[in-house]
Amino acid sequence: MQLLWIINMPIVGASQTNIQNAVNILKNNGVVGFPTETVYGLGCDTRNRTAISRVYALKNRPNNNPMIAHVLDIKDAKTITTGWDSRCDLLATTFWPGALTIILERNPSVPEEACGGLDTIAVRSPHHKVARELLIAFGSTISAPSANISGFISPTTAAHVHDDFGDSLYILDGGACRDGIESTVLSMVKDSKILRLGAVSQQKISEIIGEVTCVDSITQSESPGTRDKHYAPKAKLVLRNKKEIVQDTNNQTVYLLLESGEIVGHNTIQMPKTATEYAKKLYGAIREADKLNPQLICVETPPTTPEWVAVNDRLSRASSS
Ligand code: TXA
Ligand code: MG
Repeated sequence: MQLLWIINMPIVGASQTNIQNAVNILKNNGVVGFPTETVYGLGCDTRNRTAISRVYALKNRPNNNPMIAHVLDIKDAKTITTGWDSRCDLLATTFWPGALTIILERNPSVPEEACGGLDTIAVRSPHHKVARELLIAFGSTISAPSANISGFISPTTAAHVHDDFGDSLYILDGGACRDGIESTVLSMVKDSKILRLGAVSQQKISEIIGEVTCVDSITQSESPGTRDKHYAPKAKLVLRNKKEIVQDTNNQTVYLLLESGEIVGHNTIQMPKTATEYAKKLYGAIREADKLNPQLICVETPPTTPEWVAVNDRLSRASSS
């Protein structure tokens, strides 16, 4: 009876009862959708091989693409990593809870399946209240990739998660994500280097632990999930400056515009002018455009100043074919 009730209510508010339902699912080899401040995650017990394989199957994710383990705090992070040092302490006390993911050697107690077969593990302490309540109630670490079908766009609302996985997934609704773009992935194995740009900037990290490099996110091979085409809508997406857009309009195209003023007679989505607000709206806007089944999604090229670097990374990936 209880199970039927869960199946019939795929998107649920984050009440104590529903968090406990989610915990029960996690403890019974299951998978749940849950909010974080970056994007929604598809969570499972880090130490449960059956549940891990379900996440990969649900997402259609290559099983060599490792997941991020979500933890409550530094103490939990130490239980799943090896080599946590004073620099990690500095990073975590500065950026946690929040959008920085740290990669270290994997603690042998964690099954390699949780890390795509690698000897390393990515770990992050989310800020979102519901994610933290879920971690507390579960009492252990939760591994979770973004809750989207592999290769497509990350979800920033519970409805986006439902669009990708339908009624069979239990989804805790925590509202629209605050950041709207994934965490920054920083490897602390040997040298410190950023493998994926994200909500925490390279500059902020360098201010805490000294100069960090950022590997070319598209050609690098150390972070399997950032290698290929990612964040792609179904429609072809192109980046154009305003002049190019105005010279070549097409009524089969949806436009994501920075400047105010729509292109009369065409589908346009107005995008915010600040990088943080733009990031928050980006994935929802691309999903909304895609639902109109256009021939093309044309995005007005954002500025190239440092605060736009993560947004531009995602857009260039979404537009690569
Ligand atoms: O904000 C986020 O990071 C969200 C929320 C749910 O926490 N998660 C997320 O997970 O974006 P996912 O799996 O979509 O992206 C994680 C990225 C992938 O590119 C993956 O390859 C990389 O982190 N990664 C995870 N573990 C790694 C490891 N041990 N070594 C190198 N890269 C790793
Ligand atoms: Mg992802």
